[in-house]
Amino acid sequence: MEGLRNRRQDIEEIPILAFSAATMDEMMRQVILAAIILLISFKIALITYRRRAYPEPHYDWQKIDTNDISFPDGFIWGTATAAHQIEGNQSNNWTDFESRTEKEPSGIACDHWRVWREDFDLLSELGVTSYRFSIEWSRLEKSPGEWNEEAMQTYSDMVDDLIGRGIRPMPTLHHFSHPSWWEDKGGFTDSSNLPDFLSYCERVFDSLSDRVSVWCTINEPTVFSAMGYTLGQFPPGRRSIRLTLRVMRNMMRAHAMVYRSLKQRNPDCALGIAKNVTLFDPANRWSPIDWPVARLLDWLWNGAWRRGIMTGRMLWVKIPDAKGSLDFIGLNYYTHFITGLFMPTSADELDFAKREHETTTEFGYPMYAEGMRRAIDFVADLGVPIEVTENGVADSSDSLRPEHLMRHLWVISEAIKDGIDIRSYHHWSLMDNFEWAEGYKMRFGLYSVDFETQERSLRQSGELYREVIRR
Ligand code: FCB
Repeated sequence: MEGLRNRRQDIEEIPILAFSAATMDEMMRQVILAAIILLISFKIALITYRRRAYPEPHYDWQKIDTNDISFPDGFIWGTATAAHQIEGNQSNNWTDFESRTEKEPSGIACDHWRVWREDFDLLSELGVTSYRFSIEWSRLEKSPGEWNEEAMQTYSDMVDDLIGRGIRPMPTLHHFSHPSWWEDKGGFTDSSNLPDFLSYCERVFDSLSDRVSVWCTINEPTVFSAMGYTLGQFPPGRRSIRLTLRVMRNMMRAHAMVYRSLKQRNPDCALGIAKNVTLFDPANRWSPIDWPVARLLDWLWNGAWRRGIMTGRMLWVKIPDAKGSLDFIGLNYYTHFITGLFMPTSADELDFAKREHETTTEFGYPMYAEGMRRAIDFVADLGVPIEVTENGVADSSDSLRPEHLMRHLWVISEAIKDGIDIRSYHHWSLMDNFEWAEGYKMRFGLYSVDFETQERSLRQSGELYREVIRR
């Protein structure tokens, strides 16, 4: 009887159970739906956040009048060069590298060491008020401790000549090249080599700082480290992440050391570093993989370095003297680098991607003047005045340079209107020169150079720049 009742109960419960299973099904469906909605909302929120935090603006240049620019009184107009790229007949880490690889030799370059006075006439012709150039350590100290007074005198004469023309000299103490003996000791890979660099800097500073008030310590430390120690395209042609990080840290140590010592010797001088700010943007702005790649590269290239200056900590080590070691920041801006998991990077060289509407420059990377503003905002956080120490384009036919120049000047002019303290603009470069790993095929000059005859001629973009300065 009892058993029969139970069975009946079972039977009676069947429809109830069946109903529960349907409810479960429905519930599962709803849970899955909620999860999908949640995921989509999360993705949208993430994308919105990323877009806000890391925007990649593109302007409609058709609608912008790039002639509508204005610069404050006293804004400094300049051009930039570097010793190894123009002086000629060098003997340093670069010439060693050139002869040991298939790279094009720099040779006599622009023969500038001989004809510098004529080249300074070109500066006067342009009407610039500042000239950024670099001092070649290997000329001054061919072997350790053996100082070449004659070469030092030439740099001193250059400085006097510039000042006589009303042009502010802005020397850089290290622009990619240094003596072979120092390279043989390991250069920037070994922190025990830094005192050699410091004593060279002190000597130059002691000879010129009575007349030179603005100095760049080092040019583009990240480019030097990455090209020489990751990609192997610059001397010493190594490929080691470990060494790259070590060189990055030691260059920061070197800068901090030089800054502290020179400031003590002459506190009236302004010292800065020329930092290449390359922007890294994800190839696919929707991709969850391209984003982290772009962020990581940006952090390694830009963020870690800025943090070093702001906090005295860089790439997991303390460099206390680096904190606040800038009186101004030199900004070198050229392009953004579109990157992601499937980075278009071949074994030896960088191949550059571009957005569909962007123009590719002769170097291969896109023209992205909008990025100048992002680079300015990035360095503005350092809280010191900005000097644009380099900006330009490889363009042998000079068909792109005028537009390139005007777009970048327009962006700078807008940034100044927005209250950012930008003091100068130095165009790279005064004249065509030896473009490092690319040799002579990349033509960056406002003046073209015929390397057979060493004849210089003002390009149309040079005339335009002269006109802008005059205005
Ligand atoms: C910069 C270098 C400079 C020149 C330009 C085109 O990275 O500082 O010497 O080669 O690129």
